[in-house]
Amino acid sequence: MKPIEIAKGIYDVGVTDWNIRDFHGYSTYMGTTYNAFLILDEKNVLIDTVKKEFADLLIENISSIIDPKKIDIIISNHTEMDHSGSLPRIMHRIGENKPLYCSQMGLKNLPRHFRQKWNCRGVENGERVSLGKRSLTFLETRMIHWPDSMFTYLNEDGILFSSDGFGQHYAGWEKFDDQIGDSIMQHAKKYFANILLLYSPKILKILETVSQMDIKINMICPDHGIIWRRDPGKIIRAYAEWSEQKPKAKALVIYDTMWQSTEKMAIAITEGLIGEGIETMPMHLRKRHRSDVMTEVLEAGAVVVGSPTLNNGLFPTVSDFLTYMKGLKPKNKIGQAFGSYGWSGESAKLVQEELEAMKFEIFEPGLRIQYVPEQEGIEACFSLGRRIGSRLKRLSQ
Ligand code: FEO
Repeated sequence: MKPIEIAKGIYDVGVTDWNIRDFHGYSTYMGTTYNAFLILDEKNVLIDTVKKEFADLLIENISSIIDPKKIDIIISNHTEMDHSGSLPRIMHRIGENKPLYCSQMGLKNLPRHFRQKWNCRGVENGERVSLGKRSLTFLETRMIHWPDSMFTYLNEDGILFSSDGFGQHYAGWEKFDDQIGDSIMQHAKKYFANILLLYSPKILKILETVSQMDIKINMICPDHGIIWRRDPGKIIRAYAEWSEQKPKAKALVIYDTMWQSTEKMAIAITEGLIGEGIETMPMHLRKRHRSDVMTEVLEAGAVVVGSPTLNNGLFPTVSDFLTYMKGLKPKNKIGQAFGSYGWSGESAKLVQEELEAMKFEIFEPGLRIQYVPEQEGIEACFSLGRRIGSRLKRLSQ
C-alpha cells in the first residue's frame, strides 16, 4: 500500500504481505503487514524496516515522501528479520555511517545477524533523544518478542511505536482500529496466544511500568497489522487480561483419530461439557491449524487432549501440538488425557505426562478405551465431560 500520513509529519511507509500463509508455523490466513514509520523533523527518523524481499517497496514508499538520503537516524526496535531484513539495503541507500539506534541487546544482536560494521548506537532504557521540535524516549521491552526488543515513544504526539507488541497478522484495506472495529480483536488474540503468551509475566511488568510513567498514549503503532488510534486502551486492557490467564468456564477437546474411536470419545466428552453449560468445542488436529487451536487455549480453563496409540506412541499431530503448546507455557489449566488403542495403549499416559510437564492440574488419570467405544465407553466419556464441566464452573465463579 502507499504510505499513509498517520499524524502530521509521521508516515507509515511499511508494506503489505497479502499472500503469506505461514509465518514460522503460525497460519496467517489473512496475510500480514510489516509496518515501518517515517518521522519528519529537523532530524528525520525511520523506525524499523521490512522483510528483505520488500526492500524495494519500502524505498519506493520513503522516496515518495523524501529522498532516503535525508534520513538522519534509523531505529531498530527489534532484530527479527521481518523488521530488520531490509536494513542492508536501507543502510546502503541512505549512508552506511548514519546512526542506527537499538537497545543494548540489539547492539549485540544486529552485528551477529548482519555481520556489518554499521554505526550502531545502543540506547539506555528511558533515554530521550531530541529530533528538533519532537523527541523520542526508548523503553526496553525484553522478550516482547526477542531479548533486544524495545518500544519507542514519541513524546509530543503521544505515539508508541511498539514493534511486535499489540500487533496482529492482518492485511486488509483498513489501517486503523476505527476502520475495522472489534473483528480485529480475534487477530490480536491469536497473535498474543501464539507469539507472546510465554512472556505474560514480563508483559504485566511492562504494562505496570508504562502506567507509572504518567504518559499519554494517543496512538499505538505496532509493526504488524492495524494502528490503534480510537481506543489504544482497549488493546492494553486486553493484554493485561490475557497475561493474567485467569481460567474461564471454557474447555477444549483437542484430538486426532485414526479409525474414529478417539473421535467418538472426543465428541462424547464435548457433549458432557455442553451438558454442564460449558463453552466448548472439539478440535481435530488435522482440520484445525495448531495456531488456531492455541488461540482458543488462551482463555480455556480446561484442556482435554486425546490421541490414538500409534506404534506404541502418540499420533504425530498430537505430539506436534503438545510440543507447540508446551513452548508457549499456558498457565492455570485443568488437564485431562484420553485415547483409544488396539493392543499396547500408551497414548493416554503419554499425553498425561506432557500435560503434567506443563504443570496443568491433572483432573483424572487418562481415560483409555480399547478398539471401538461401545455404549458403556461413550457414557464414561460423557460423564467425564460433565465432571470436568462441573469443576470448571466452580473454579471460574
Ligand atoms: Fe514481527 Fe518478532 O518479529
